[in-house]
Amino acid sequence: MKAVCYADKLFRKMTNLSTLAREVLQKNDRGGYTVPRPGLYPFQWNWDSSFVSLGFAVIDESRAWEELETLFKGQWANGMVPHIVFHKDDDSYSPGPGQWGAHNGSGLNTSAISNPPVAGISVKRLLKDAEDQDFARRKAAGLFPKLYAWHKWFHEVRDPEGTGLVMTYHPWETGRDNSHDWKSLLPRVPLDNLRPYKRKDTEHVDADQRPDKSEYDAFMALVQFFRDHGFDEAYFYENSPFKIADTTINFILAKADLDLIWVAEHLDADKYAAEIAQLKAWHKVSLKGLERLWDAEQGAYTPLDMKTGKHVKGISSGTFLSFLADLDHKDREHRQIEILESWHEKGLLVPSYDPEHADFEPQRYWMGPVWTVVNYLIYEGLNSCGYDEMARKVAVDTMIALKKGSVSEYFNPLTAEGLGGKDFSWTSALWLYWLAPLQDNLAADYSARVQMFE
Ligand code: DGY
Repeated sequence: MKAVCYADKLFRKMTNLSTLAREVLQKNDRGGYTVPRPGLYPFQWNWDSSFVSLGFAVIDESRAWEELETLFKGQWANGMVPHIVFHKDDDSYSPGPGQWGAHNGSGLNTSAISNPPVAGISVKRLLKDAEDQDFARRKAAGLFPKLYAWHKWFHEVRDPEGTGLVMTYHPWETGRDNSHDWKSLLPRVPLDNLRPYKRKDTEHVDADQRPDKSEYDAFMALVQFFRDHGFDEAYFYENSPFKIADTTINFILAKADLDLIWVAEHLDADKYAAEIAQLKAWHKVSLKGLERLWDAEQGAYTPLDMKTGKHVKGISSGTFLSFLADLDHKDREHRQIEILESWHEKGLLVPSYDPEHADFEPQRYWMGPVWTVVNYLIYEGLNSCGYDEMARKVAVDTMIALKKGSVSEYFNPLTAEGLGGKDFSWTSALWLYWLAPLQDNLAADYSARVQMFE
């Protein structure tokens, strides 16, 4: 009897969340693109928009495609798609267009680094699920050459020696800004010439939920470094004080390459034969490169510090994105599942950092909180590798986070409290696209697990 009442309460809560998620996407829509959260992030962010397009797919397919088309307006001539596109001039965010001093060559101000290439994954989904197939094929065909140019940039400009691992020179590019993964590497960034700057993020969110000052100094010094060296990629490859091979970017790129092959074959395998062959060739080299991210000592995939060639120490949620790349190492997969099992006993999956580590901070950005977008990708990877039970646990825990913490930017894994920006676009999008359709299926598991967080 209790279960029936609970399920009813649960249903009402979830219905409200769907209404709220739609309202948030409408409220954050700036006409063709969506800001992640007004005030805190007032422009278009790259991987945010890729997830947001999936949310719009539930509401209006044409608006979903438009989100990506607007993002690609910021693409540089060399193929790079920036992590921020500044569609307007505005100094309410730091570093804004004036501090980056970069543009795409056609008059649009942008940042000068990229983001995990999720867009290819989204395009496959939008195309596969489209109600109007003709319309979707036209849209996908328009985006395909741009996506291909972006992947080419990753494989050629960011991996100029063809090692199978792409390089990254700024934590912001990984999306996991202040991850513990970078903690021992950021002190190498020289701060001697750092020009004064004012943080704006802490005007919107409590400082203990954001990166600390020493991290921010390094973030800003790197922006200055890029600008002072004319955004010269060849120079950064040799000289960047921060140079890593990241788990997030490399695993997502491997998956997105496969999804782009699917898109090209679906559209016209003959027309895109050369691109398909090249994507397959890149993917083959990536599979070799990704082997180097396995740290046998820690029993996990971890980023490589390219200055020393060593793995970073500690385990972050990036390791579980390996399931997306389907590397087919059963022993390693089982080890990853064991880690997830043990983290599941401590709190909500998937904390961004090892909850058993002394440096774990459950409220601080990428030092511990749960992020809906990472969980979604891990869920997809687990399912595709046949770990349905663990995938289900990830979905249930994400549902608990959103139900208790609303559509927040991120969540405390120990309490499910919503943290960071409220009414967040990508969380709303993934509620609509991923979790809302699963609610009946997960209701029993949800009821059993949620008690741990009451
Ligand atoms: C921020 O401002 O915190 C963003 O994550 C940088 O892209």
